[in-house]
Amino acid sequence: MTATATATSTSGTTTRLPPMLDRGLPLLGHALEMRNNPVELFQRGYDRHGSIYQLKIPRSPRTVAMIGPKAHEKFFRLRDDQVSMREVYALMTPIFGKGIAYDAPPEVMREQLGFFHAALREKRMRTYAQGFVEEAERYFDALGDEAVVDLYEVGNELTIYTSSRSLLGKDFRDRLSGEFARVYYEMEAGLNVIAFIAPHLPLPSFRRRDRARERLYAMIKEITDKRRREGTSEEDFLQTLMEAKYKDGRPLTDDEITGLLLAIMFAGHHTSGVTFAWTGILLHQNPQWIAPLLEEQERILGGRTEITLEDLHAMEKLEWCVKETLRLYPPIIMLARKLLVDIEFDGYQVPAETTIMASPAVAHRIPEVFANPNRFEPDRFGPERAEDKKHPMAWIAFGAGRHRCMGIVFAQLQLRAIWSHILRNFDVELLESTYEPDYSRLLVGPRKPCRARLRRKKAKTTVAMGSA
Ligand code: HEM
Repeated sequence: MTATATATSTSGTTTRLPPMLDRGLPLLGHALEMRNNPVELFQRGYDRHGSIYQLKIPRSPRTVAMIGPKAHEKFFRLRDDQVSMREVYALMTPIFGKGIAYDAPPEVMREQLGFFHAALREKRMRTYAQGFVEEAERYFDALGDEAVVDLYEVGNELTIYTSSRSLLGKDFRDRLSGEFARVYYEMEAGLNVIAFIAPHLPLPSFRRRDRARERLYAMIKEITDKRRREGTSEEDFLQTLMEAKYKDGRPLTDDEITGLLLAIMFAGHHTSGVTFAWTGILLHQNPQWIAPLLEEQERILGGRTEITLEDLHAMEKLEWCVKETLRLYPPIIMLARKLLVDIEFDGYQVPAETTIMASPAVAHRIPEVFANPNRFEPDRFGPERAEDKKHPMAWIAFGAGRHRCMGIVFAQLQLRAIWSHILRNFDVELLESTYEPDYSRLLVGPRKPCRARLRRKKAKTTVAMGSA
């Protein structure tokens, strides 16, 4: 039985609110369930009420979940004057900085996000892709002929090298990325549940976060100062920001450059790292996919010893596998916005001030949209099944609409470069009996330990990056 709640909207009329999910606790509402297993909570709501329902979350006047392709059409098409992302990303402000990214007024935010576009355009991809291939070679060559690794750790470590190189340049990567990685992790450790509620409490982890941010600022400023002094220019994201100007002609301050670099680093690092790990797990839990992937590698590369950006683009089956991995285990399991206006969906009114949430993790397992939703079937994205094409906004691992991920191509090329290298050079054996998602992290990856044994194949194929 579902009680239909009502409320008074900003226009003063009585509204029919979405149904409230049961089993909320007196003070905590659904907060504990949300902390322990948010996917189970959202799934329970979807099974009971369908694509729209309310949750009770302390400190939020109202929280509404919107799940499934139709609800996504509404959620992702809301404009920046209808929803705000500032409140839901408030925990990032001490890291990105005040007035940067989602903390900036909407028109400034739009300009800043535009700088990301410039850095991620196709022309730059060739340089980035070269970095992905070289970093994968360097990393796995250092492992020797056989090694037991933790896939979660490998993903995080390797993508910090690829990211710092693409963002800050090869010189920086070679000289400083060890320290950069250490300080960056220290800063990230300040992103916890308390930071959602009170990001400025005098806690040791927050003090370490703030000190780490200061050190990263100094490291980045050292490079910008050097480039300015010597008049040199590089093919990296930092250079884009150093040359960028707001519409009124003002260049970015050093603090803005640092904040935006950290924002894109944050957006792209762990997300790619955990997807690397899940891809390895799912591929080797479903080994029938290894032979077709190796055939694809052979067909595209043959005996060549150079790999091009076009080769990476052509790895279609590997792309389906990564996409299927992101369907089953999207690193961002929920997305949120605060409503600035009243909206209506499916006969329900949702008033301004409500936090609306979408959940890729639950939406990706709707059986009417994705057949056999719990099975790893990468060919669902192939031309015959094309399940994602039948329902626009069904597959939302990268979000959708106006704030859709800008790093899609970057992320996909990076994951393809790394897995292409492993598939061609190593046999992988999974060592855990099960691999489960770890919901205690903001970006959800497999729970540790998640070990695998990598054994180098007898005849090693060295493939270096070449120009097309
Ligand atoms: C597998 C890897 C990745 C996943 C799953 C992912 C996922 C997402 C999602 C779901 C959003 C939308 C957030 C929202 O609507 O609230 C997003 C936004 C964004 N992502 Fe990614 N991302 C990945 C990699 C990257 C990379 C590598 C970069 C950059 C190099 C990047 C840059 C961005 C940026 C700049 C935005 C903000 C777009 C905007 O607000 O307009 N992402 N990402």
